[in-house]
Amino acid sequence: TSSPTPFQISLRSDRTSADEISQLLESPGFGSLFTEHMVLVEWDREQGWHGARLMPYGPLPLEPSAAVFHYAQEIFEGMKAYRHDDGSVWTFRPERNAERFNSSARRMAMPELPPTIFLDAIRALVEVDQGWVPPAGTGETSLYLRPFMIATEEALGVRPSNRYLFTVIASPAGSYFSGGLTPVSLWVSDQYVRAAPGGTGFAKTGGNYAASLASQAEGIQHGCDQVVFLDAVEHRYVEELGGMNLFFLYADGRVVTPELSGTILPGVTRASLLDLARERGLVVEERRFSIDEWREGVASGEITEVFACGTAAVITPVGKLAWNGGELDMPQEHTLTMELRQELLDIQYGRAEDRHGWLYQL
Ligand code: COI
Repeated sequence: TSSPTPFQISLRSDRTSADEISQLLESPGFGSLFTEHMVLVEWDREQGWHGARLMPYGPLPLEPSAAVFHYAQEIFEGMKAYRHDDGSVWTFRPERNAERFNSSARRMAMPELPPTIFLDAIRALVEVDQGWVPPAGTGETSLYLRPFMIATEEALGVRPSNRYLFTVIASPAGSYFSGGLTPVSLWVSDQYVRAAPGGTGFAKTGGNYAASLASQAEGIQHGCDQVVFLDAVEHRYVEELGGMNLFFLYADGRVVTPELSGTILPGVTRASLLDLARERGLVVEERRFSIDEWREGVASGEITEVFACGTAAVITPVGKLAWNGGELDMPQEHTLTMELRQELLDIQYGRAEDRHGWLYQL
């Protein structure tokens, strides 16, 4: 019930026409098309959060000495705005993203952002750029929202910056993978790890994603789409894909996903699917899960489905696992995977009752 953040508003004078937008929205792809505005809010030690503004999307004025360019003090979030059949626009469990943003901020020694500002910023941006939220009934398109915070102080000392910029941009999105729902193949990286105990694995910070790119390249060299990371200590336990969490479905009704040990990202999609699985009477296990258990479970037929999940990619079936010295096809039926996927999408797009109160109108 705190008062809305006061945004200083300056809109583009040359707004894109509805016709042009609808053409652009026909095949948006992922993350390469941006809406016309953005939100900026600044922080410094004297004033705290201040200077909230909604303005035309465009380059940020930053000095080359800005701390973010040198020591990567940066965090971000990923969310989506969905249009329902009646034209209204909603997002999904945004308070979770606001909380995780602050958990990431603490780990990166950055200031926490009051959740009200986080939510007001998203609402202000989606309101002014609502024409960019793809129409209902166009499949799984949405407006991907990317809130992020960077260290802006001009300083090369290795210490927390004294100034930060919080920004939200928005990008109309179709499916994350160009292959749509085609099962992805995964490469088990034996050369690299993503995160170590005590490190930043649970934080949504750019460095984790940068660290995944060389292994991703290794996976692609081996003909795979994505990389699965193992734990840094024993190199035995399955962690995540770098941008998605993993789920294993068993013939006996168990659902296994790696536990939140501090080295994996606590996904909002992950948490929601665990709830949906429980409500179906499935037995949910969040625990350590070894790569041997994966291979043996598939070989013996106990594991019947494997999928990856995240905000951007929703749920994507896993079709194959490959490693240095071998490969294994996953079961090719994805019945329960697709049911869970549909159930989640139906809630997000307002086609099923929001019995958990997960939706938030923008
Ligand atoms: C997501 O929004 O799902 C992410 O994790 C970010 C990135 C993989 C697109």
